[in-house]
Amino acid sequence: MKIDILTIFPDYFSSPLNQSLVAKAIDKGIIDIKIWNIRDFTRDKHKTVDDVPYGGGSGMIMKIEPLVECLEEIEHHRGRGFKILLTPAGKVFNYEMAKELSNYDHVILICGRYEGVDARIEHFIDREISIGDYITMGGEVAALVVIESSIRFVKGVVGKEESVIFESFCDGLLEYPQYTRPYDFRGYKVPDILTSGDHKKILDWRKEQAILKTKRVRPELLGKRKFLKD
Ligand SMILES: C[S@@+](CC[C@H](N)C(=O)[O-])C[C@H]1O[C@@H](n2cnc3c(N)ncnc32)[C@H](O)[C@@H]1O
Repeated sequence: MKIDILTIFPDYFSSPLNQSLVAKAIDKGIIDIKIWNIRDFTRDKHKTVDDVPYGGGSGMIMKIEPLVECLEEIEHHRGRGFKILLTPAGKVFNYEMAKELSNYDHVILICGRYEGVDARIEHFIDREISIGDYITMGGEVAALVVIESSIRFVKGVVGKEESVIFESFCDGLLEYPQYTRPYDFRGYKVPDILTSGDHKKILDWRKEQAILKTKRVRPELLGKRKFLKD
C-alpha cells in the first residue's frame, strides 16, 4: 500500500513512522510512505503556503496552488491515489472507514494547518475525513490516526491476524476485559473463570463482559451490532 502525506511539517512524522509495527511494515515493504513538503511547491522566495481569508476574519488560510501542484506531482510519479483532506468538517472516521481505506493501493493524505484550506480543494480530492468532533493544531496527528488504524488491516502488518479480527468495534462491541500476570495485584484478583481452563466457559464469559462493557460505556453501539462473533 502506498501512502503519501502532504504537510508543512515533514519532521513531525520522523519518529512515529520509525517505531513499532509501522516501522516494521515499512521495512518489510508492505507499506510505502512518502512525505511531501508543501513548501517545495511554492514559487516565492519566502515559500508562502498561506494567505488572508477573502471576506475578512481571523487567521490565515492555506493556499490552493501549492497543494494542487503537490498532488499533481505525486500522481505523476506514484500513480493515481485516493485523495483525502483531513478536516474537522469531514466525515467522522471510524472502524469501517479504516477497513475500507486499507483496500486502496494508494492513499494520499493532506494535512491542513492555520484556519484550514481554501475550499476549492474539494474539486481535487475524493473525501474529507475528520478524526472527531474537536480541533487539533494540524492535520498531521489526524493523518497518523488514519494510517495506524487502516494499515492494521493490511496483510502482514499485524503479526497475528486474529488480533485484528477479534478487537473492539469489529462486531459492534467493545473488547472484553483482558488480564495478565500477576494473578493478584494488591488484592485485585483475576476473575477465576480465566484460570479455569474451560475454554467454552471463558468464551461465554468474554462475550457477556463485552456486552456489559459496551452497554455501560457505549450503549449506542449495541444498536448497530452485527453479531459477527456468534
Ligand atoms: C486549527 S485546524 C482548523 C480548524 C478550522 N478553522 C475549523 O474550524 O474547522 C487546522 C487543521 O488541523 C486539521 N484538523 C483539526 N482538527 C481536525 C479533526 N478533528 N480532524 C481532522 N483534521 C483536523 C485540519 O487539517 C485543519 O485544516
